[in-house]
Amino acid sequence: MSTFPATRLRRLRRTAALRSLVRETRLDLDGIVYPLFVGPSTEPNEALPALGRLSVEDLAAEAEELVTLGVPAVVVFGIPEEKDEQGSGAWDDDGIVQRALRALRESAPGLVLLTDVCLCEYTSHGHCGVLEGEEIANDATLELLARTAVSHVEAGADAVAPSDMMDGRVAALRAALDDAGLTETPIVSYAAKYASAFYGPFREAVDSAPAFGDRRGYQMDPANVREALRECELDVVEGADVLMVKPALPNLDIIRAVRERFDLPVAAYAVSGEYAMVKAAAASGWMDERQAALESLTAIKRAGADLIVTYWAKELAQWL
Ligand code: PBG
Repeated sequence: MSTFPATRLRRLRRTAALRSLVRETRLDLDGIVYPLFVGPSTEPNEALPALGRLSVEDLAAEAEELVTLGVPAVVVFGIPEEKDEQGSGAWDDDGIVQRALRALRESAPGLVLLTDVCLCEYTSHGHCGVLEGEEIANDATLELLARTAVSHVEAGADAVAPSDMMDGRVAALRAALDDAGLTETPIVSYAAKYASAFYGPFREAVDSAPAFGDRRGYQMDPANVREALRECELDVVEGADVLMVKPALPNLDIIRAVRERFDLPVAAYAVSGEYAMVKAAAASGWMDERQAALESLTAIKRAGADLIVTYWAKELAQWL
């Protein structure tokens, strides 16, 4: 092996053009998914613009902007007017997400519409499943999630993304979709979803913080990697079409491990806290937002993600 001075790695770093020629990982918009929050009325979020809510009426303009920018896909979250113990707003045919889907389908027929399938935005207690005492009942929740998924697809969703972390939900969704004749609808499973502090800004934005306790009884322990692979394996067997890891930046090793073990497309969710950290640092003058965002997203892609859900989707379209 030749060494210094024959070998000088700086030669290929000398100019932007040379660096670009030999770049190993390239960001593009193709795998980018933008989270969309739909609520009873439009409520901008000044500090974290991508976490603002839009009314159903204001969705068309947003969808047109995304299409113009070249953002190919969205994942829709709903903030219902009313919540209850069961989270019945989640599968209401006239619910907030269902109305949003119909509006988006019409205004942006080419936009890929994913939906987050979970109960936490719809339950009065803020947990992702129904309660039995203070326990989150796994099996009783499955049917409600399945109903929610079917109603999303009937309203126009192209794919459903269960994020609740109940055991057996992928199989439950697949069976319900197939029974409804929706055999062609993919399931993007939040397979390795960790109990994370980085969901803080999201929960504030959609008002879904649990009223008691936390989500550690169903979301994964951030200390575990082998368990993440077991989660993925089960989801593959149950019929998942895409495996998602979440959050992204604290879990680059998990993204890499999933990429190496499975041949399904891998998605990574760069969550609200990842976005908020950079926004806050940028607002204090400590970091350059664009550089930090591009570095983060490149690292997520380099780790092995094919799809990236990111709050920077719109900016990214302009930066690239
Ligand atoms: C719903 C859900 C959450 C996120 C996506 N889907 C919150 C949670 O599990 O508490 C977090 C997304 C983000 O922080 O950007 N269960």
